[in-house]
Amino acid sequence: MKIGIDRINFFTSNQYVDMSELANVRNVDPNKYLIGIGQSKMAVIPPTQDVVTMGANAADVLIDNENRDKIDFVIFATESGIDNSKSTGAYVSGLLGLKHVRSIEIKQACYGATAAIQLAKGHVSLNPNSQVLVIGADIARYGLNTAGEPTQGGGAVAMIITKNPKILSLDADSGFVTENVMDFWRPLNHSEALVDGKTSQNVYLDFFNQTWNEYKNKTGLTVADFKAMLYHLPYTKLGVKGLREVLNEATDSKKIELEREFEAAKKYNNQVGNLYTGSLYLSFISLLENSNDLEAGDRIGMYSYGSGAVGEFFSGTLTDNFKSQLPKINLEERVQVSIELYENMYQNHLKNDGADIYLDYSNDKSKYILIGSKNMQRQYSIQ
Ligand code: HMG
Repeated sequence: MKIGIDRINFFTSNQYVDMSELANVRNVDPNKYLIGIGQSKMAVIPPTQDVVTMGANAADVLIDNENRDKIDFVIFATESGIDNSKSTGAYVSGLLGLKHVRSIEIKQACYGATAAIQLAKGHVSLNPNSQVLVIGADIARYGLNTAGEPTQGGGAVAMIITKNPKILSLDADSGFVTENVMDFWRPLNHSEALVDGKTSQNVYLDFFNQTWNEYKNKTGLTVADFKAMLYHLPYTKLGVKGLREVLNEATDSKKIELEREFEAAKKYNNQVGNLYTGSLYLSFISLLENSNDLEAGDRIGMYSYGSGAVGEFFSGTLTDNFKSQLPKINLEERVQVSIELYENMYQNHLKNDGADIYLDYSNDKSKYILIGSKNMQRQYSIQ
């Protein structure tokens, strides 16, 4: 039975900062951010959006009368959770009006959404008529004026996993690895990640090679079998480095093809920044929407990495009607905000300090919004 991604959508806020402007204010050569890091814009998540609202905003359009009653499992992957006990899955199921479902949250840094997809795949193989809503949503925060700052961002990707999927059919085998590494972590009382940047880059690339080699040994496939290679993209330059690892195994024509497809696959990530769990899947959407060369049956390789650390290389093939299922992402409609306004929003994110707070949401036209906190309960609204 074929199982995979039937529907997919992406949400981020309608505000961004320009990376050249951020570099100028930070007294850094803009080319460090634009070329060295490979980011041109960074999504700014206002206080009125958190992972729950972004997840709901991404998932909303994927649910209609055709699939509403078939969805019986909601798996929400995030490392920017808002509660130590209650899952984001339960919050989002409530907002979306999904009642007859199991709802959970999954965590392993940026790898979470891939774990969710694997779990969903197993669930559908045991219950072929079931559909699973998988969401990966995060806000990447390292702190103002830190080395990690140009690799911030945020957003959500939502997917429906089914049998006979309309977009991508997942292949059976994958290569995976876990090692207990301290490259990036966020202690319970921190709203910002702690990171050993250089170690994180090295482990990312090392795990890519380990999982890619394991995948090749298990499947007998080689780079020649792939139309495109996608990567978790904390910033696009690291994906370029990941791609280089396989290019030396490719013929000249395959090399040109993989580089061309990667250009399409990094376009949206370059304008959004890191969204942790959703990053690899935003790159998939970017490929689907910006490549002119994809055909049904093309195999796509995917490298998922979550600090801490877990890596997995897996793959899927595009299905016959994938072109009719593409989401319509328009990042051009976003509004550029000043560095001062970005810093203000960054500092005024909702804190769990017990105070009742009512947020001004007049500038946020999203369907699902966070409007404040009362008695230590987040208050959401649908508009
Ligand atoms: P840094 O130390 O400020 O940067 O931090 P750098 O000095 O290493 O420079 C970056 C690149 O810019 C270098 O290129 C420079 O040469 C180049 P590279 O050597 O890498 O090819 N450069 C320039 N290029 C052109 N013109 C110039 C110029 N100046 C310098 N004028 C770092 C960079 C990424 C480490 C930092 O931003 C950071 O710590 N980010 C957060 C951690 C991170 O994203 N790690 C990625 C791997 S871990 C991962 O992917 C998991 C994650 O998503 C979390 C999760 O799993 O949950 C993070």
